[in-house]
Amino acid sequence: MNANREAVPTVEAKGARIPLLGLGTSYLRGRVCARVVEQALRLGYPHVDTAEMYDNEREVGEGLRGSGVKRNEVFVTTKIWPSHFAPRELERAARDCLVRLRLSEVDLLLLHWPNPNIPLADTLAALAKVKRDGLTRHIGVSNFTVALIEEALQATSEPLVCDQVECHPFLDQSKVIAACRQHGMAVIAYSPIAKGGARNDEVLMRIGAAHGKTGAQVSLRFLVQQNIVVIPRTSKVERLSENAAIFDFSLSETEMAEISALAHRGGRLIDGPFPGRQQWD
Ligand SMILES: NC(=O)c1ccc[n+]([C@@H]2O[C@H](COP(=O)([O-])OP(=O)(O)OC[C@H]3O[C@@H](n4cnc5c(N)ncnc54)[C@H](OP(=O)(O)O)[C@@H]3O)[C@@H](O)[C@H]2O)c1
Repeated sequence: MNANREAVPTVEAKGARIPLLGLGTSYLRGRVCARVVEQALRLGYPHVDTAEMYDNEREVGEGLRGSGVKRNEVFVTTKIWPSHFAPRELERAARDCLVRLRLSEVDLLLLHWPNPNIPLADTLAALAKVKRDGLTRHIGVSNFTVALIEEALQATSEPLVCDQVECHPFLDQSKVIAACRQHGMAVIAYSPIAKGGARNDEVLMRIGAAHGKTGAQVSLRFLVQQNIVVIPRTSKVERLSENAAIFDFSLSETEMAEISALAHRGGRLIDGPFPGRQQWD
């Protein structure tokens, strides 16, 4: 990948233009985090995903500044943890994120997981206010089921531009993807290489070999080819280029169908802060 950030396609959702490739940063800490973010941006990644929960917003901010890339050339997302969903808490938490990142605004601010203990309408009103106050350009949700997406859209008139959900070949997310499409929201896929599991999958490796690509690249291509944003994480600078080289080949319809068939019960890798409760649909 060269440093041409504009070569990465974007997805349009309710006024937001979200680059289809971003760098995931969970578990990246300290100097490794700052260095990987800096290198990713230098390589041309146009988008970085963090969260207050990852305890790395300072280092993500350091990486952003260290890269020398202009602020308006990078799409920065962070997320508010559910323990901060009471309206006043949410506003304070959002301000704290910006202080740690040393930014005046982020591009996208998400509710990290639904919180069944705080009325969603109150949290969304606070999130909308944070946007109106200029702390973020866009707002959205993460780990929302179909039912929760619909509840959220009823509760706020402020555009919710995305749902960030676990999404990879081993998990069937067709219902939530269809709901997002119906409502004009982008889908952002987290764990898009199944936490590394895509690398050694026989089907993905075989399809990859036919294109001169790895199983991880096929997993990412499978998603971006459906206009789903991917945010793969790596702590290894040498893997940044591999994970970005997904826009120079296409999967056939037969290959796409074969990859879809890898989804199975038990394919989910991530459970949230309220185990079992996220599957409310
Ligand atoms: N909203 C949410 O609730 C939520 C939940 C989970 C994650 N996320 C976001 O989504 C991002 C990505 O998800 P994730 O970190 O869970 O999983 P992921 O990106 O699917 O996988 C990351 C793992 O794969 C390995 N890896 C990376 N590139 C590889 C390659 N080319 N070949 C083989 N292995 C490779 C990494 O190891 P190395 O470091 O050794 O390369 C790491 O162990 C997170 O970092 C975070 O930003 C959001």
